[in-house]
Amino acid sequence: MKSEEINGNIFYNGDCVTGAREHIPDNSVDLIITDPPYGINGDQLHQHYNRDEEFVVEGYVEVPASEYGEFSLNWVKEAERILRPGGSIYIVSGYTNLYHILAALRETGLREVNHIIWKYNFGVYTSRKYVSSHYHILFYEKPGGERTFDLESRFGLKEKDLDNGSLNYQDREDVWIINREYKPGQVKNKNELPAELLVKMMQYSSNEGDLVCDMFLGGFSTARVAIGLNRRATGFEISQTAFEVKARELQDVRHGYLLPSLRTPDVEERKNQGKSWTDADIKTLTDRFTRLAESGKTKQSIIETLEEELGRGRWAIEKMLKKQGIQNGGRGRPHNKATDGEHNSQAVLPLD
Ligand SMILES: C[S@@+](CC[C@H](N)C(=O)[O-])C[C@H]1O[C@@H](n2cnc3c(N)ncnc32)[C@H](O)[C@@H]1O
Repeated sequence: MKSEEINGNIFYNGDCVTGAREHIPDNSVDLIITDPPYGINGDQLHQHYNRDEEFVVEGYVEVPASEYGEFSLNWVKEAERILRPGGSIYIVSGYTNLYHILAALRETGLREVNHIIWKYNFGVYTSRKYVSSHYHILFYEKPGGERTFDLESRFGLKEKDLDNGSLNYQDREDVWIINREYKPGQVKNKNELPAELLVKMMQYSSNEGDLVCDMFLGGFSTARVAIGLNRRATGFEISQTAFEVKARELQDVRHGYLLPSLRTPDVEERKNQGKSWTDADIKTLTDRFTRLAESGKTKQSIIETLEEELGRGRWAIEKMLKKQGIQNGGRGRPHNKATDGEHNSQAVLPLD
């Protein structure tokens, strides 16, 4: 299988299943972001079908719909093998063959984290039905290790919009409205993913220096963004045309070129942040929580007070309270729907 090294990153021109088996060790990848062929028009293209290059459409190789189940199972199992324990995988999929990918995931030990809806512009125009303008993004993890989720990588927990809504919460809702890129006059892969979408996934789910793999490189958009964010990149593309054109373009992409364009989140450093809890710290926490709850304060204001008093972040406090069995209002205080209900984002204890 032909491979190309570009600025220290290796990419493979060939089938991702055989390629991964040959070249990518077990448990070696931190993050997989991938967008498999959709298998939609595959069956209409059987006259072009051959084993080496399968369906070639302008450098885009399709998979016959009739083989989509087996195809999905093969590559998803390989993805599971190469992911490190605690590693994350994001799979972008249309609706038509989504069930095959879900079924394949169920055959593995990968665990669902979120099912994200990506809403985009330029949906296919229709007149007798609704316009289809979303994709599914299946966000899974490989159990057995610490999953990277950089909570304040984009917005600090305290940052608010003009209506006092939490920017962090809004950014982490599981419906993402991100427009596709309009690139007139440029050669591009069918369904090239927008950089904004990839940046978001990588900011939350990886750190600088991590290895990001795309099983279906297409226009190499995942690789471009990974390099732009100072991550390492690898991946596979079966089409020789796409591989040659896009690998050449990647040679001009500089490490870290996207970093200056990232928003700097307003994150408060707290004096005890990251420090482990002593028994005395835990007792102070539970006593103060109970006292404040008895005084009738809402959970949100209790947590804010505790953040100041204990010099720890909100998430750490909520996690420890949960560990101590104090949830949804705390001891000595009746459950308060208005402040603790699941519709009040500011007040709910995290479930993860
Ligand atoms: C939906 S596109 C990926 C688009 C890509 N995410 C981007 O932003 O440009 C899927 C790609 O997978 C490639 N492909 C199809 N079968 C493959 C296989 N078995 N191994 C590797 N690549 C394959 C196709 O040629 C196509 O370029």
